[in-house]
Amino acid sequence: MIPLIKTFLPPKEVLMPELEKVLYSGYIAQGDAVDRFESKVADFLGSPHCLSVNSGSSALHIALLLAGVEKGDEVISTPLTAEPTNTVIKQTGANIVWADIDLDTGNICPKDVEKKITGKTKAIVIVDYAGVPTNIKKFQEIENKYNIPIIEDAAHAFGASFNGEKLGSHFNFTVFSFQAIKHLTTVDGGVLCLKSNELFEKAKLIRWFGIDKSLTRKENNIEVQGYKYHMNNVNATIGLVQLRYMKEVISKYIENGKYYDQWLADIPRLELLDYYEKTEPSYWLYTVKVEDKPSFIRVLNEKGIAVSDLHKRNDMHAIFRDSKSHLPNLDEYEKSWVHIPCGWWIEKEHREYIVNTIKQGW
Ligand SMILES: Cc1ncc(COP(=O)(O)O)c(C=O)c1O
Repeated sequence: MIPLIKTFLPPKEVLMPELEKVLYSGYIAQGDAVDRFESKVADFLGSPHCLSVNSGSSALHIALLLAGVEKGDEVISTPLTAEPTNTVIKQTGANIVWADIDLDTGNICPKDVEKKITGKTKAIVIVDYAGVPTNIKKFQEIENKYNIPIIEDAAHAFGASFNGEKLGSHFNFTVFSFQAIKHLTTVDGGVLCLKSNELFEKAKLIRWFGIDKSLTRKENNIEVQGYKYHMNNVNATIGLVQLRYMKEVISKYIENGKYYDQWLADIPRLELLDYYEKTEPSYWLYTVKVEDKPSFIRVLNEKGIAVSDLHKRNDMHAIFRDSKSHLPNLDEYEKSWVHIPCGWWIEKEHREYIVNTIKQGW
C-alpha cells in the first residue's frame, strides 16, 4: 500500500552518532542544543523569535495564554483540523465559537470569522489545513482592524509560504508541531514563533514553571503560572540533524503537489482546491474533492493507494457540544473532501500510478 503519511528520519549513520553524543554528554535537559535548534528554526523560517517546546499543543497553549485568553472568553476557531487545535482552547476554559470554512480550500473563512466576532472574542485561531496556507492577507486585515490576536496553527504547513516568505512571521503567533508524522519531526516537539521580543521573554517563563532560567533558583520569584513545556537536548539534536534535510524533504512534497495540481486538473467528478493568491502550500496532505467519496476511497485502496479524509470535523466531538453552530460549507465539503499520498516518499512512478488510477475512474 502506498501510505498517506510516513515519518522522515535522517540516515542512521548520520543521526545515530549525534544522538549517542548527546545522550552520553551528561547534559540531556534543555541546554545548548535547544538554543541552537531554536536559532536554526528561526533562520529557516525567517521568523524573529522561535520558542521551542515539547509539542505543538504546548505552543498553542502558550500562545493562547499570551493572547490573554481566560475562562469564559470566546475564541473563534475551525472544526476542520486535528483535535489538539481545539482541545487546547478548551483547556484554557474559553468557549469555542466555530467559524465556517471556505469551500475552495477547506480553510477557515475570514468573512464568517468577522461575523462571529463579539466583545468577548479574545483570539482567533486559524489553521493552514493539510499544508495549504489560509487567506493570510484577509486575516492580517482582520487582526489589524479588530486588534484581536490571531494564532496561526501551521502544524501542517512547515515550509509553506505567502508572498515568498515562509509561514512563521505573518501573525503575532505561529505554531508548528514536530510530532511523528509532520514534515519535520523531533519525535515530539514544536515551536511558537513570535513577533514581539517582550512576549518571547514571557513565553520563556511560561515554558518552564514560571522560572527565569537566567537567574539562580534562589534569585527567582515565580510570578506567572508556568508549565513543563520545554524541549530537551535530545529532541533538539534530532531536530538539528533533520534541518539539514528539510529543504530537500519539503521540496519533494511541493514538487509532488504541483504535479497533482497539473495532472489532476480536468478530471470528471474531481475538483482541485483553489489556493489563495501568492500562497505556496507545503502539501502535507494533498486534498481533492470527489463525487462519491466512499467509492473513490474503496477503489483506490483496492489498487494499493492509501486514501482517506483522515480527520473528523471537531464540532462532532461530545466535548465541543456547547459550541454547536450552523456550518453549511463544512456540511457540503465533508461529502467530498479526501486526501491522497503526496509526501517525500512518493517517487515519480508512484505519482504517475496514482494519477493514472484516478483517471480510470471509481
Ligand atoms: C493542526 C494541528 N494542530 C496542533 C497539533 C498538535 O501538535 P502536537 O501533536 O505536537 O501537540 C497537531 C498535531 O497533531 C495538528 O495536526
